[in-house]
Amino acid sequence: MNNMLPIRAVACVALGLSMMFESWGYMMPHQDPTDLLILVNKQNRAPAVPVALVKPDVTPTKPELSENIYMRPEAADALEDLFEGAAEAGLTLYATSGFRSYSTQKAIFERKLETMSEKAANASVAKPGYSEHQTGLAMDIEGETTRGTGLTEAFGESPEGIWVAENCHLYGFIIRYPQDKTAITGYIYEPWHIRYVGKEAAQEITDLGVTFEEYILMIRGDRIKTLQEEGNSHVAEETRE
Ligand code: DAL
Ligand code: ZN
Repeated sequence: MNNMLPIRAVACVALGLSMMFESWGYMMPHQDPTDLLILVNKQNRAPAVPVALVKPDVTPTKPELSENIYMRPEAADALEDLFEGAAEAGLTLYATSGFRSYSTQKAIFERKLETMSEKAANASVAKPGYSEHQTGLAMDIEGETTRGTGLTEAFGESPEGIWVAENCHLYGFIIRYPQDKTAITGYIYEPWHIRYVGKEAAQEITDLGVTFEEYILMIRGDRIKTLQEEGNSHVAEETRE
């Protein structure tokens, strides 16, 4: 039978549950730092524990970025497969930014503040401690068409960006900050930022057409709800920013 049915049923429950939070902020209790489905966003910090990292065998966007593209081993393997898949389709991808330490993220955020307001910076760069790049599961990528022009929306319209959007789930990645989902993700459209979640979750997220926030609420919503019912009201209160 259709194995999407259970998740669709959970989706309905999650939708109702989301109303209880009044906004799309919810805190995950007790996340396992090794979980491929770890949720890191404006409400949920990246774990402060070291993770094993390797450098994927892919080409960095610029030679000087070669030390900036480390990832967790399973994500690195999948990235290599993704880049090979693109190559088979006649397209060339490059890696720009993978794992970032707290201090690297701090420097990036502070640099952003020099050129824009705090509100604008908050919509495009995570505060230190709250970046998915700190998990080693995210990578910013570029393609031959827009290589060297920086991370811009133009990538999403390029042949490489279109191919990535259509195929990355087959390799276990999702476009983490989709177009028109800022109200949920908290960030502007970032067609270049891919997040490894594993093939099964990536397929489900793509089939459902949901953000990662919505997906995690679907599969973990019961746990959050139980905590609320047990009187851990901080779970709800702290999410209202
Ligand atoms: N640009 C994403 C949100 C980050 O800084 O992690
Ligand atoms: Zn990114």
